[in-house]
Amino acid sequence: MTEIFKAIEDIAIEIYEAIKTKDTGKVETQNASGDVQVKLDVISDDIVEKHLLKVKSVKEIISEEKEDPITKEEGEYFVAYDPLDGSSLIDVDLSVGSIFGIYKGGYNGENIVAAAYVVYGPRVELVIARDVVELFRLNEHTKKFEFVKELKLGKKGKILGPGGTQKNWYPFHKEMIDSFFAEGYRLRYSGGMVPDLHQILLKGGGLFAYPGTTDKPKGKLRKLFEVFPFACVYERAGGKAVDGFNELLSLEAESYHDTTPCFFGSEEEIIKVLRTYKENQ
Ligand code: AHG
Ligand code: MN
Ligand code: MN
Ligand code: MN
Repeated sequence: MTEIFKAIEDIAIEIYEAIKTKDTGKVETQNASGDVQVKLDVISDDIVEKHLLKVKSVKEIISEEKEDPITKEEGEYFVAYDPLDGSSLIDVDLSVGSIFGIYKGGYNGENIVAAAYVVYGPRVELVIARDVVELFRLNEHTKKFEFVKELKLGKKGKILGPGGTQKNWYPFHKEMIDSFFAEGYRLRYSGGMVPDLHQILLKGGGLFAYPGTTDKPKGKLRKLFEVFPFACVYERAGGKAVDGFNELLSLEAESYHDTTPCFFGSEEEIIKVLRTYKENQ
């Protein structure tokens, strides 16, 4: 697995360079989720593919931008990734990211063995979840990632990132979000799950929600590339990750691009989510 993390460091440096120098425009195609792709989605996907296929221990890769996986003869790890998360925010210069889930034996929640994500912001940061969750920062002079600290979530936080189209929220979901705000939580939502979840993790806790809505009962965020990796990060940092009823990592993926409602946070916020959803089942 060390080789995979080494490849992710090289990938991050190359994608960051592409973000700074390449065209931010759209392409004519859509991906399997129906997203309008930007050129950088495709460029980033190619960068990750090129590096990961060189790693001996990688058996298979699948991404948000690919219909189907690419399989090799050798290797034991299955890597599912979102090469560029928040790509619609590139042209307004907000932070974006890359997300990686490393699986053994297939792509279900219980098969995830490690996860990583990169934030491309004013600084480039890499978070790796193995047994513990660790933060690294890119030193732009040496082009090396330097260890910063271990990350742990508190029992309760102060910030809230409520995603999804509000007009389509279920009334009980809206009531729950309002009651967090009434308790004093502050709104922190950029529309990129990487920086939004990174902020909650670094500031010690809170809640990020991307619920099922009347138009999209299964939510928007994709299990393999976005949800399972962040569930792995949050759980190993001492937090919780659920779909409203069950732990996200107990879920199976019905297809490569399957989505689920999702809530990531510290313990107390997630207890409230579970209670609210149970009462309104
Ligand atoms: P991607 O750019 O990889 O397609 O993912 C965007 C995701 C996620 O980062 C964010 O939380 C969510 O989409 C926001 O979507 P909407 O603005 O459509 O609600
Ligand atoms: Mn997309
Ligand atoms: Mn994404
Ligand atoms: Mn993406």
